[in-house]
Amino acid sequence: MARRTMLSCLLPGALSPLFCLWAVLLPVVSPNSLNHHEHQDPRPKLLLVSFDGFRWDYIDRVPTPNFRKVMDEGVKVEFVENVYITKTYPNHYSMVTGLYAETHGIVANEMYDPALNLSFSMETDSMYDPRWWEEAAPLWVTIQKDGGRSGAAMWPGSDVKIHGMFPTRYLQYNASVSFEYRVRRLVEWLSAPEEEAVDFGVLYWEEPDESGHNLGPQSPLMDAIIAGIDEKLGFLMDELKKAGLYEKVNLIVTSDHGMAQLSPEKIIELDEYVDRDLYTWVDKSPVVGIMPKEGKVDEVYGLLMDANPNMVAYKKEEVPARLHYQHNIRITPILLEAKEGWTIMQNRSGPFMLGNHGYDNTLRSMQPVFVARGPAFRQNYVKTAMRSIDLYPLMCHILSTRPLPNNGSLLNIQDLLSSEPAASTPTPAHPATPPEHHGYSYAPVVGSFIGVVMVLGFLVVYVLLVTLKQRPALKHRSWEMSQPLLQEDLHL
Ligand SMILES: *[C@@H]1O[C@H](CO)[C@@H](O)[C@H](O)[C@H]1NC(C)=O
Ligand SMILES: *[C@@H]1O[C@H](CO)[C@@H](O)[C@H](O)[C@H]1NC(C)=O
Ligand SMILES: *[C@@H]1O[C@H](CO)[C@@H](O)[C@H](O)[C@H]1NC(C)=O
Ligand SMILES: *[C@@H]1O[C@H](CO)[C@@H](O)[C@H](O)[C@H]1NC(C)=O
Ligand SMILES: [Zn+2]
Repeated sequence: MARRTMLSCLLPGALSPLFCLWAVLLPVVSPNSLNHHEHQDPRPKLLLVSFDGFRWDYIDRVPTPNFRKVMDEGVKVEFVENVYITKTYPNHYSMVTGLYAETHGIVANEMYDPALNLSFSMETDSMYDPRWWEEAAPLWVTIQKDGGRSGAAMWPGSDVKIHGMFPTRYLQYNASVSFEYRVRRLVEWLSAPEEEAVDFGVLYWEEPDESGHNLGPQSPLMDAIIAGIDEKLGFLMDELKKAGLYEKVNLIVTSDHGMAQLSPEKIIELDEYVDRDLYTWVDKSPVVGIMPKEGKVDEVYGLLMDANPNMVAYKKEEVPARLHYQHNIRITPILLEAKEGWTIMQNRSGPFMLGNHGYDNTLRSMQPVFVARGPAFRQNYVKTAMRSIDLYPLMCHILSTRPLPNNGSLLNIQDLLSSEPAASTPTPAHPATPPEHHGYSYAPVVGSFIGVVMVLGFLVVYVLLVTLKQRPALKHRSWEMSQPLLQEDLHL
């Protein structure tokens, strides 16, 4: 009789505090678990948008109410250091891998790989060969391997089969497809029924890069182009609203690089300094990849090293370490870098542009815009500086996906987040690469495990105590010792 009373009082009484303890411990074990798992919420959504060549200061040049709205409702970063060389393909791949170009392998828009004996050009089908891309894995591949889904509207590389995978949903690259069509498809994918909806979207648009090249960024005609991009952003925001996604999706709007004004007076003609027969011209101005013919490296370098005060010639092994542009077989033995605003050509008869990019990534003119809003982001917050490679660990954090090894740091950028990750409180463990929580499989498993262990532990103790109570003497003492604890729990 006494035993049964104890059972009926103690069991629920003792167990409920255990469950409370479990509930308290669970978020400590994984900060993501409460948000994404206990309430059965789907994985947070993230849409990364790149307006090619949208320089950081374009937003202040004409009224850009939609960019401003994103900033007011979210965050803005003033100085975004992208990766060298400041070209389209290297930077788009860095954003989705967190790696410098020398590590992810897309070192330029035009490349030659001596090991493969193959050339890559963003203008030919060569770019569909996975071998160019597989020195890294983009975030959409990682998300999908983690059980998530991704959608891509023409992001460079997103229609290439990389590590055996395309994005879950994607569009074949076609520059003629309108921005509006791309947006509608993405919004459709993001708002599909939960078991089909994409978690991570990437959206690419060719402007204002194209106009920036043709007109030059200083042209007054650029004003209308920039205003037009702001309208496109407004269209995207409206479509998200119509689909009921605006408050759910974390929206990042950025770019790959800026744009510098060129001038026909600032042309460097290589033919004046070195015979064309001595080298192969691999990549275009303003950072020209020069591959000297067999045995001609020193001769070509000697001819170019002091050739023109507006151009620097590097042997590959002399490229400054801060540029992180050396350790890849696809980087040519000689690199020519023009000073800002200068163009390197073989002679003047080639096509000439009024705007270009590719120069040193610390030049202000090369840097892109960065604004973001959504549940993961703080509101009305301006951050001074970031590196574009830090975007990758940030996106992985938002998506609760474990990042692959990368060159970015969540620590550098986590102040953009509305709730800083647990790793932000100073801890001695690995400050450079804060631990990422693999919310999906890990949190529920750990939480359940702790709960089960606690319940089993209690039952074992309880059964022992009850059994032993029938043989008082020695065992009676342990019962007395544990009883106050249980009694206390009862009245918590
Ligand atoms: C590289 O490929 C070209 C054909 O594209 C061929 O002519 C050449 O011999 C190859 N070079 C080497 C070193 O295999
Ligand atoms: C590219 O898109 C345009 C506009 O939608 C279409 O007319 C054209 O057929 C497409 N080209 C290819 C190769 O699919
Ligand atoms: C410039 O180079 C092209 C070949 O790319 C050649 O046909 C042309 O004659 C050259 N022009 C001058 C002025 O040397
Ligand atoms: C960038 O990250 C990769 C992967 O962890 C690593 O192999 C490489 O050495 C890093 N580069 C630098 C400059 O730290
Ligand atoms: Zn670009």
